[in-house]
Amino acid sequence: MRRRAAAAGRAKLAEVFVTAAALQPKLIVEADAEALARAAAERVMARIAANSGRIAICLTGGSSPKRLYQLLGSEAYQGKIPWQRVHWFIGDERFVPESDPLNNMAVARATFLDRNAPAGHVHPIPTTADSPDQSAEAYARELQAFYGSKDLDPRRPLFDVVLMGVGPDGHTASLFPGFPEIEETGRWVVGVPKANVAPFVPRVSLTLPVLASCHEMLFEIAGHDKQAILTRLLNGGTLPASRARSHGETVWLVDRAALPEEFRGRR
Ligand code: 6PG
Repeated sequence: MRRRAAAAGRAKLAEVFVTAAALQPKLIVEADAEALARAAAERVMARIAANSGRIAICLTGGSSPKRLYQLLGSEAYQGKIPWQRVHWFIGDERFVPESDPLNNMAVARATFLDRNAPAGHVHPIPTTADSPDQSAEAYARELQAFYGSKDLDPRRPLFDVVLMGVGPDGHTASLFPGFPEIEETGRWVVGVPKANVAPFVPRVSLTLPVLASCHEMLFEIAGHDKQAILTRLLNGGTLPASRARSHGETVWLVDRAALPEEFRGRR
């Protein structure tokens, strides 16, 4: 009896360790931004290949994913993506019209989606609402309708892949350090009245628990400009980008220019 209880205790403990290990981001270093974008494309393709049903990919904004988007629309990948089975969402949006060059989904659409994805499979955050809060509510409803529930089940992730970037202040999506939205655990999507860094336009962002609901969260962090913030993150700084974790795998794809000096010799 006691032996069985001990074995059960060990199993529980092992589970805890496995869960903890799975939550740790995996750091992958690539030679440069081009190699990093190619590695990201391969990871996205692997997640697509792993799902024979309906696939959901959550894109991100900023400049970091642009090369990846070009690759996904290029001859090398475009023919391999089962467009009829893939749905494209966005993790955060600048509250500007779709015609504005700052609009994140508009960049993804122009770069690869409009030429390839069925129109009904592209799910932008609507920015025609009266306020970022209303836009957030509308997008939450859209995500919940797609998922088929208002409650996220960790055994059935919402997304196959969530792409992410890191800002100079450690923000990710539009979740800024010290802002109340980073602590949100109830709502799926929030309005962010002002940004902490440029562009200083209101934002709409998915919250941490919703971003976590994925098989893989994939950060792209490239260029010397990212070295300072990556140094803080790798040294254990508690910032939105380090709090954003997938229930599945979290990967930080980094290039050598972004890697802090102290980590270079080790790779
Ligand atoms: C946005 C974002 C944001 C971005 C980071 C990194 O709308 O601005 O989605 O979180 O990913 O700020 O931006 P860069 O890729 O431009 O460095």
